[in-house]
Amino acid sequence: MAVKDNQPDWNRIAGKFDLWLPQLAPVGKALLSALEARPGERVLDLASGTGEPALTLARRMNGSVEVVGVDSAAGMVRAAQAKVERERLPRVSFHCMPAERLTLADETFDRALCRFGVMLFGDPLVGLKEMRRVLKPGGRFALAVWSTPETMTTMWWACQVFKDRLPEEKHPAIDKVTSLGGRGVLEEILGAAGFSAFTVERRTIHYEFASFDAFWDRVEASEILKAQFDALPPEERAKIRDEVAPFARDLVHDGLLRIPHEYLLAAGNK
Ligand SMILES: C[S@@+](CC[C@H](N)C(=O)[O-])C[C@H]1O[C@@H](n2cnc3c(N)ncnc32)[C@H](O)[C@@H]1O
Repeated sequence: MAVKDNQPDWNRIAGKFDLWLPQLAPVGKALLSALEARPGERVLDLASGTGEPALTLARRMNGSVEVVGVDSAAGMVRAAQAKVERERLPRVSFHCMPAERLTLADETFDRALCRFGVMLFGDPLVGLKEMRRVLKPGGRFALAVWSTPETMTTMWWACQVFKDRLPEEKHPAIDKVTSLGGRGVLEEILGAAGFSAFTVERRTIHYEFASFDAFWDRVEASEILKAQFDALPPEERAKIRDEVAPFARDLVHDGLLRIPHEYLLAAGNK
């Protein structure tokens, strides 16, 4: 059965996605460490969004690797490319391209990475096969996908408060977002895509905020739940913040809200 796909309109929210980059940075760090890119190599970042982790790698390697980012949302690609131009970063470029149909030649990349993209592809298996096709023999990949619904904590909270107010097709996209997070699912799809030498690890990051209000302000400012808010009458919208707040209560310690999120980090070679 196809997984329900009501992910955010990435084009629309491209200008606000950077609000989440600080929370996702530890995953980028882990991916780049697993990727082990070396000077002289070509690196592909799939579903590169507003440019991460590609830009962190490009800044770090200072022109000694060539970095190519691709994303299917033109708005995201424009946001990433604007950073390249603003910072005059050498040998990094972003292109609008669906992961399932890469207009890139076979076996031309030494490394490929993808942070929180694969599970969102219309066809994750085809996207992974494409990633494998463009990797050179022995080429290395590192990718991250979200784990199970209950451990994608902030989205799980949102689901609890929206689910009885909205028809199912308007619920937050948690099914799609966690579609590769179940036990053995990522291993199976990587195997089906032709990879045999890889590891998959479950890891936890914490989104950190000074308070619940700081967190919820970020949710609203980023418009990540815009489709859900837009579908509610104004008097219902006003209740959402207060209904999510109790979920966070036990996670505040020493004046800091730390919200755990589990993800899977897969890394291996072609
Ligand atoms: C959660 S964002 C992650 C962006 C970036 N990798 C990061 O971690 O900051 C997911 C991205 O996947 C992209 N995406 C979704 N489906 C895609 C597809 N079929 N091909 C390429 N990109 C896709 C979206 O446009 C969006 O930019």
